[in-house]
Amino acid sequence: MKTLLVAAGPTRERIDPVRFISNRSTGAFGYEIAGEARRRGFKVVLVSGPTILKPPAGVRLIKVETALEMRSAFLKEFKKADSAVMAAAVSDWRVRTPAMSKIKKAGGCRSLELVENPDILAEAGRRKGNRLLVGFALETEALEANARGKLKAKNLDIVVANKLSTAKDVFGSGKTDVLIIDRSGRKVALRNKSKREIAKKIIEKIIS
Ligand code: CTP
Repeated sequence: MKTLLVAAGPTRERIDPVRFISNRSTGAFGYEIAGEARRRGFKVVLVSGPTILKPPAGVRLIKVETALEMRSAFLKEFKKADSAVMAAAVSDWRVRTPAMSKIKKAGGCRSLELVENPDILAEAGRRKGNRLLVGFALETEALEANARGKLKAKNLDIVVANKLSTAKDVFGSGKTDVLIIDRSGRKVALRNKSKREIAKKIIEKIIS
């Protein structure tokens, strides 16, 4: 049985014990991909940031919170996997020094010092060997060019390009448009499809 690793959901970067920086990812895309892969006979490991979704039946779930936690879980599992889909919305930055106790309002207006998080997908791309690696590209403009750039820069086999025109398009459960582009340059455009339908296409592409 082939093993597919999937990363899904947002990451949370701590500011203090009660606050964090995150993003609007619901995890739906990754969870659909994990469920579909399981139905198609893969052994599935799902590394997930915080979401309210129920993990698909038969999938091994590893819960993480921060980008650094996601990085160690993902890269560790990647070694044992045959293929991987990085569908998580990793926060590009984290707070340099999270406060140990709640930051009080009385301190006045503050700024946060941010440092860049590692690019998990790019790291996986550098150590992929003959594993098959799939990434996403979320873009507000120049969709295809930016997605092809990420395919190359991160050494991917497949990139799923998702254009964000209004926030409603991608986040949550609605239908969306994507372009699936592979290493050899072939592309398939899917329009107004549910995340489940897109997940099916991605898994078919991985199988083929
Ligand atoms: N990604 C990752 N680690 C990061 C940032 C992104 O693994 N620190 C992955 C995402 O899961 C996605 C791909 O890289 O599969 C592209 O993410 P995207 O947000 O579209 O682009 P970035 O590489 O972050 O670049 P930019 O924000 O400049 O578009």
